[in-house]
Amino acid sequence: MTAPVPEEASFFAAVGGEPTFRRLVDKFYEGVARDPLLRPMYPEEDLGPAADRLTLFLMQYWGGPNTYSATRGHPRLRMRHAPFRVGPAERDAWLTHMRAAVDSLALPGPHRTALWEYLERAAYFLVNTMDPTEPAH
Ligand code: HEM
Repeated sequence: MTAPVPEEASFFAAVGGEPTFRRLVDKFYEGVARDPLLRPMYPEEDLGPAADRLTLFLMQYWGGPNTYSATRGHPRLRMRHAPFRVGPAERDAWLTHMRAAVDSLALPGPHRTALWEYLERAAYFLVNTMDPTEPAH
């Protein structure tokens, strides 16, 4: 077991903790709610629970509390996205809304860059089909 990183030292704390991640994800889901490609991918009528999962995951990733894993288990994000068709179009739509959300936070440059580069890399990593006609597996 490694010692937990003190919260003061984490990116999580530096950007303002949970309220910042809530604002990020709420803004992102405002975009998803209006997106004709992404909105139908979310099985639940209420996007609130999905927003909560993404918020808790991002908080944990950046050094905040481990509530995500305590409630959902190991993230295994590629596996959890396997039921959905994530092609280049879905990735780009996702990133468009996330970009607007990141920009809305008006973080200091280095924090904004670190957050954005991570999200962009993660979105490319989660693409699971290059075929625009292939159904989800
Ligand atoms: C590339 C485009 C992406 C698409 C189209 C997409 C789509 C989805 C969908 C439809 C869900 C199910 C909704 C739910 O019930 O939670 C989901 C869940 C989730 N996504 Fe994504 N996603 C994408 C990228 C990402 C990225 C980049 C991350 C992380 C940085 C991420 C993190 C998550 C998490 C944490 C969950 C909840 C997993 C769980 O605990 O069940 N997604 N995503």
